[in-house]
Amino acid sequence: MMRKPVRLGIIGCGLMGREIASAVLRYPHVLGTTAHPVVVAVCDTVREKMDWFTDHIPTIVQATEDYRELVANSDIDVVYAAVPHHLHHIVYTDIIRSGKALLGEKPFGIDQSANEAILTACRESPNTLVRVASEFPYFPGAVTLAEWVRSGAAGKIIEAEAGFWHASDLDPEKPINWKRQVVTNGEYGCMGDLGLHVVHLPLRLGWQLESVSAHLTQIITQRPDGSGGYAACDTWDNAYLNVRARVNDDVFPLQLSTKRIAPGHGNTWFIRVVGTEGAASFSTENPKVFRQFEFRRGLPQSWQQYDLPYRSVFPTVTGGIFEFGFSDANLQMLAAFLEEWAGNDPGPWQCVRPEEAQRSHALFTAALQSERERREVLLPLTGKEETK
Ligand SMILES: NC(=O)c1ccc[n+]([C@@H]2O[C@H](COP(=O)([O-])OP(=O)(O)OC[C@H]3O[C@@H](n4cnc5c(N)ncnc54)[C@H](O)[C@@H]3O)[C@@H](O)[C@H]2O)c1
Repeated sequence: MMRKPVRLGIIGCGLMGREIASAVLRYPHVLGTTAHPVVVAVCDTVREKMDWFTDHIPTIVQATEDYRELVANSDIDVVYAAVPHHLHHIVYTDIIRSGKALLGEKPFGIDQSANEAILTACRESPNTLVRVASEFPYFPGAVTLAEWVRSGAAGKIIEAEAGFWHASDLDPEKPINWKRQVVTNGEYGCMGDLGLHVVHLPLRLGWQLESVSAHLTQIITQRPDGSGGYAACDTWDNAYLNVRARVNDDVFPLQLSTKRIAPGHGNTWFIRVVGTEGAASFSTENPKVFRQFEFRRGLPQSWQQYDLPYRSVFPTVTGGIFEFGFSDANLQMLAAFLEEWAGNDPGPWQCVRPEEAQRSHALFTAALQSERERREVLLPLTGKEETK
């Protein structure tokens, strides 16, 4: 089958820029797709950051320190942007206004007003595909859980919990970086870094978030600055959000947590849904394991646990006997984005829409207010989605 070439530019050649470039290089791994991505341009203000790309990707014809040069390049179809949060607004709006499709990193604006500016650019360019990166719902366990919820197997939802936990910040000698400072990461702190990952599936499952009562904690307040001194580490480390959620006429408590300091956890993303008919849970802590409970009247109540085979939204060359990991989820997310760009409907596996990122901003902004005022804060009712 002839595949449609997609000329991709990458802005921000750090952790995530490399990850997406690696997924592009591995793209033939995905079977039956329409799009065929090729990295043709990279940009980073630090020239050496581009070396790995230019050393390994012979299709790159532009390597620039000025993102506006990449945005002006008419030989690019799609841009993936992974830059610090304070730059999202300016970089993303410039990309969208250039007419190039954008897969932008979360939180999609450092704060609510930056996010609004990005949403305005989306509304002004309704035919430009704009999506937000979020990988974890592509794990087989998350896919299975989402299908299980959609099937109605939970019955009436009693409660749900979702979280994303890290541990490396427990070390007070871990040096400061831009993600630990309000000026570059934003006032959301750990919610801006980890929060969209946590709300992606709840929002996609159609749960309305009606109010939030937040407890935000700052545990380590300064970190080594790399020059022998210490710099203020002024972002929230952990966020505990008690959300009132609704699906149809049912209201239930949804506990969301994003933690940079969760001792023992490395990149643990999880979701658990408990209902009157059944319950299910998945965590990347045990990425093969799916746990399920089915209520059977008169029988002993017990959870079942089983290993999931490798299973992906878009088929791949990998056999079912192998394990699925973050880079597989990233590849699946990229396929969802590029298939949509190529005109194929990825259905419920469509990447996060700008309106969903907007709802996450409403939640995090309300959480900041809740923490400040020590009270429950109502969230705006969800409006009709407008952008593609
Ligand atoms: N989806 C995920 O799982 C995930 C994981 C980590 C980070 N992120 C997100 O990805 C984005 C980047 O995070 P990261 O971990 O890759 O950070 P990083 O610090 O590793 O990389 C950011 C890169 O942007 C470059 N940069 C800074 N200013 C620039 C400019 N004006 N033009 C071009 N490049 C510039 C930096 O030099 C750096 O190389 C953030 O939005 C972050 O929230 C997503």
